[in-house]
Amino acid sequence: MLKDITCSSEINPEEFKRFKMKYNGWVDRINEELDRLIPENNSPQGSIYDAMRYSLMAGGKRLRPVLAIAVSEMLGGDIEKVLPFACAIEMIHTYSLIHDDLPCMDNDDYRRGKPTNHKVFGEAQALLAGDALLNRAFEVMAESISRVPENAVEGVNAMRVIAEASGTKGMIGGQVIDIKSEGKAIPGELLLYMHKCKTGALIKASVLSAAVICRADTETMKILEEFVECIGLAFQIKDDILDVEGNSKVMGKNTGSDAAKSKSTFVSVYGLNQSKKMLLELTDQAAGCISGFGEKAWFLKSLTKYLAIREM
Ligand code: IPE
Ligand code: IPE
Ligand code: MG
Ligand code: MG
Ligand code: MG
Repeated sequence: MLKDITCSSEINPEEFKRFKMKYNGWVDRINEELDRLIPENNSPQGSIYDAMRYSLMAGGKRLRPVLAIAVSEMLGGDIEKVLPFACAIEMIHTYSLIHDDLPCMDNDDYRRGKPTNHKVFGEAQALLAGDALLNRAFEVMAESISRVPENAVEGVNAMRVIAEASGTKGMIGGQVIDIKSEGKAIPGELLLYMHKCKTGALIKASVLSAAVICRADTETMKILEEFVECIGLAFQIKDDILDVEGNSKVMGKNTGSDAAKSKSTFVSVYGLNQSKKMLLELTDQAAGCISGFGEKAWFLKSLTKYLAIREM
């Protein structure tokens, strides 16, 4: 859910109001579906559901599923068809956050406005809750594919896009580089590659899996790929900036975490001013990529602007 942030001059207040209403409406639908897909459970292992739901239902911007739904709507697709994949991506993202916060990774104790998963359930259960969310994500996608056999090819291709983006060539690969780069001065090229993998890949998969389900043509795929590569990178640059100058209460996670662990970030490599400049350049570039869609892209255009000025 987007908080009532003061809308800066970059976004017209009327446009922002329309954007926020649409965004929050989709977040409600996503939350309802996530709640249904991972319900409470009274079996002997029921506590794992509590741990999964604790992080999954804690809030979060739901950016990735919203992106998938927005692309589907823009391309004239059926939102309900993309929803299982959008929810699966949010499950994978939440698992990555639970693991990212573990003492062996970033060792953070505050996430989505609450103590981190391992602080409440212990490390072993937090590890398992992350694993379980990943597993459930693929179960949900497979269920959706078997329910609608006439769309099986698109469904399997979308699942492949998501699997690849979450794995060693994507999110996990980026996390490997992130951990190995702690305390080191890494070259700009490697930093760029790390950000594209650890954050950009899953954001890219959110857009492209939706496009695959909508049977987008090659030209549309190419445009969307260029667009999402810009916003994916911009998203992590902004995350690095917020870790330095954000408000921990608003963000629901600690600030100063990167410096405390001597992380390689855009801010540590390029400094705050240069990072902000790069963020704005990528934002402009992203908006330019989708200009050809005209009014149909209004939501993605507003979202692009919002991502640059977000406070959480
Ligand atoms: C945080 O992601 C981790 C990164 C990949 C930068 P989000 O900023 O999307 O976190 P939530 O989902 O809103 O909690
Ligand atoms: C994490 O990046 C990216 C993931 C794949 C989870 P960060 O470590 O910068 O994310 P935050 O700042 O803890 O949310
Ligand atoms: Mg991290
Ligand atoms: Mg972290
Ligand atoms: Mg961060």
